[in-house]
Amino acid sequence: MRIALPLAFAACLAACDDAAPPPSAGHDTDLPPEVLADAEQKADQVDCRQYDDGQVDGASLLALVNKQDALRGSYAPADLLPLGAELRMPDRPVVLLRAGARAAFEALTSAALVEAGVDLRARSAYRSFREQCLTFDFKVRENGLEHADRYSARPGRSQHQLGTTVDITAEIWDWELEPEMAETAEAGWLATNAGRFGFALSYPAGQEDLTGYAFEPWHFRYIGVEAAAELAASDLILEEYLRACAAGDAGFACPEEPQPAVPVNQEFIGGACATDADCASLGPDALCLVEDHPGGYCTVPCTRGCPDRAGNNQVTFCHGEREGEAWCRSKCDFSRFPEAGCREGYTCLDGERPDGSARADVCRPEGQLPDAVTEG
Ligand code: DAL
Ligand code: ZN
Repeated sequence: MRIALPLAFAACLAACDDAAPPPSAGHDTDLPPEVLADAEQKADQVDCRQYDDGQVDGASLLALVNKQDALRGSYAPADLLPLGAELRMPDRPVVLLRAGARAAFEALTSAALVEAGVDLRARSAYRSFREQCLTFDFKVRENGLEHADRYSARPGRSQHQLGTTVDITAEIWDWELEPEMAETAEAGWLATNAGRFGFALSYPAGQEDLTGYAFEPWHFRYIGVEAAAELAASDLILEEYLRACAAGDAGFACPEEPQPAVPVNQEFIGGACATDADCASLGPDALCLVEDHPGGYCTVPCTRGCPDRAGNNQVTFCHGEREGEAWCRSKCDFSRFPEAGCREGYTCLDGERPDGSARADVCRPEGQLPDAVTEG
């Protein structure tokens, strides 16, 4: 059942053109980290800006996001948290959800274990605009545009960018996302009980005309317990309900659940900067730790999800093992990351923040003195 994604991708990059037959028709809607990293390396072949035409702010749990109503490309939730190892499938080291959705997913999986005997795990949850762009592009190359458009949202159109949506799988399904899983008792339990925990199935069977997507029995979006109850009491699918809420339909209360406050952890390390603009490659939330200082460090608020989750922006990467928190670490932090290290031509050296408040390990060009910090 498993598709050799990296192989298919490599073959496609070398030989695919628009007329080539699709090498496979898998239903997985995310990319494994190593495939995503590979796609990032080749990102200059992908024009993501063409999709950045959305206006929707994704902060509301009931935000309408579909093929017509797109999120701003710069939208990223402010309260993303990593899922613990017991909540995510193997080989997915960083899986992020907004705080409220994460707590609800934890409750859902605990109940699934007790009531249905199934150890449900997240395969994919938050995906940034950029990650979705690389994913969609990959799917087009892999399966052709028509298939990609049925299973993979174009950038800005994915509910995964909201940080409240999770693709749910389990070992009994070989960690895959396939429509056939819906025929199992465990998926039946999930479909019946997800609403108790505030989750709703986004793309039900036979509703492609309405949703624009084929049946995805694995894709659940957190909308809050009360909203999920109102949805369940209606005869609508999620897409219709969210449209009604967005239109201010008086027939629905559309309750908005207050979200837990999450402290932003700004303990991390980036490359050299003088102003925030120098840090733009780290994402829209990046900032220079000490503005206008020649030795400043670029930083990102880690609880917003490290934008370098694929581990390839050469500066920092996200560490999400500690319960309840995520934070970014230097690529030189060997104490936490066995795979740490700088790219070729750079070496790890101790450094200091410009205000002298803390030490940090950073990558510098080999032979360069510590006072000239450089991204590596
Ligand atoms: N698989 C859904 C449509 C997404 O990519 O968001
Ligand atoms: Zn999904």
